[in-house]
Amino acid sequence: MSKFYLTTPLYYVNASPHIGHCYTNIGADTLARFKRLKGDEVFFLTGTDEYGEKIYKIAHQNKESIKFFVDRASEKFKNLWKILNISYDFFIRTTDEFHQQVVKKVVSILFEKQDIYKAKYEGFYCIFCEAFWSKAQIKETEGSCPDCKRKVEEIKEENYFFKVSRYQDWLKRHLKNNPGFVKPKIRYNEVLGFLENNTLNDLCICRPKKRVSWGIDFPFDSDYVIYVWFDALLNYISGAGLFYCEEKFKKWWPADIQFIGKDILRQHAVIWPIMLRALDLEPPRVIFAHGWWKVGEEKMSKSKGNIVDPYNLIKEFSLDTIRYFLLREIPFGLDGSFSYSALINRANSDLANDLGNLLYRSLNMAEKYFLGKVNPLKKDIPEEFLPLIEELKESYVKNMDNIEFHTCLERIWRFINVMNKFVEEKKPWVMWKEKRIDELEWFIYSLLEGIRIVGVYLYPFIPNAVSSIFTQLGVKVNEQLSIKKSEWQREAFYVKKEKPLFPRFNVS
Ligand code: MSP
Repeated sequence: MSKFYLTTPLYYVNASPHIGHCYTNIGADTLARFKRLKGDEVFFLTGTDEYGEKIYKIAHQNKESIKFFVDRASEKFKNLWKILNISYDFFIRTTDEFHQQVVKKVVSILFEKQDIYKAKYEGFYCIFCEAFWSKAQIKETEGSCPDCKRKVEEIKEENYFFKVSRYQDWLKRHLKNNPGFVKPKIRYNEVLGFLENNTLNDLCICRPKKRVSWGIDFPFDSDYVIYVWFDALLNYISGAGLFYCEEKFKKWWPADIQFIGKDILRQHAVIWPIMLRALDLEPPRVIFAHGWWKVGEEKMSKSKGNIVDPYNLIKEFSLDTIRYFLLREIPFGLDGSFSYSALINRANSDLANDLGNLLYRSLNMAEKYFLGKVNPLKKDIPEEFLPLIEELKESYVKNMDNIEFHTCLERIWRFINVMNKFVEEKKPWVMWKEKRIDELEWFIYSLLEGIRIVGVYLYPFIPNAVSSIFTQLGVKVNEQLSIKKSEWQREAFYVKKEKPLFPRFNVS
């Protein structure tokens, strides 16, 4: 059994989650479920990022104690992941005591190694992005943050720095020797290009308490708290047991894949591996940066006022419709524009018509002609099915391992559509009329078995809908959850049709 450790970013608790945040966790959840289907032992980590000036200010504006504010906000994310059926194994909060201890210990180690030093800092800070900028960087944007375009504050103070520059050459070499370290390729090229064309500045890793008090105490100087990004990145190793459960840590680290959005690529593909290197720890195997959900041409975000609320969307369309849409509509690494018409189109054509209808009419025939009990094939597997089954067997695992979710779904749908065509062409009602009963049973069995196989492949994407498919087919859900079950079987079905799997929506 291989181990598979995957992570998502930790979400800031200052704003309510939107569909862009859900995207990372739905992608990660799909991969985690797939790995479990394959028989891997999975550790799936997610959580909340709770320190920093931005969060402190909002709690203060709300006239709430900071502890009350972050507890409630973190709970909101947990509830959302429950609604979205996210099968994480551990939820980490940066305010967790054990995480704080790990962060302090890391700082001590780096301080002893002289990778952390004190110096004067002069530069600019964007509270919203919790990011430091140099004069040169904000020159082009005329004094505003190069990322979010908000006003930055000028800072002149004594501070502590992490010697990022010392490891630049190592990181360049690491990238060159490991072309799969950052995915997709476009992001790999971006990171390598950045490292080749810039000299890294050392990273300022503290905030003086007189400005920001909400953070983990810096171990050697009580006037400072640790910079929120430096603390948050360490969750990926504190969550895996570093320093307090060495056995656990040895088992899981390095992470096999770390999902992020492309906006936090530098922190994850530059700063993070360097922090690990300084600690003599291995870098993660893959950093995968997905694209953004936009509305029109703008990134979906609270500050732009264009967010799509996941709670309303799920109420309106059902969870699996949303999960399917987000992963089918665009390749995971690219940007996509969210639109209700595209969502309704996928819901009606792919889910209600192609999959839902195929299941419904197959079950209907099984009940009408065979009172729900359909015996295994006496003849061979339909020749129309064979190339599709073979293709899925060959491509599914490869595509899933490569995070090509949309390609997987597209291939599965090819099989679904062949089955729909099979119904049209074979005309079962004529078989019934002409009393070709054996042939009719072979025909219906083929459809039910084909749908069962599709269910195994689709489970990581739409687990609720697939559980319902299995129940209606009369097979036990738990017994189906293995990739080995995608083999063609010869076991009787005892089906029980329920209401259609996916509703249809009006196009307004
Ligand atoms: N707290 C940091 C991450 C620290 S990880 C040690 C952070 N948090 S965030 O809440 O702002 O963003 C979390 C994730 O949501 C990021 O990966 C970001 O890319 C993703 N998304 C936020 N808006 C998004 C879209 N509109 N579309 C897709 N993903 C988006 O950054």
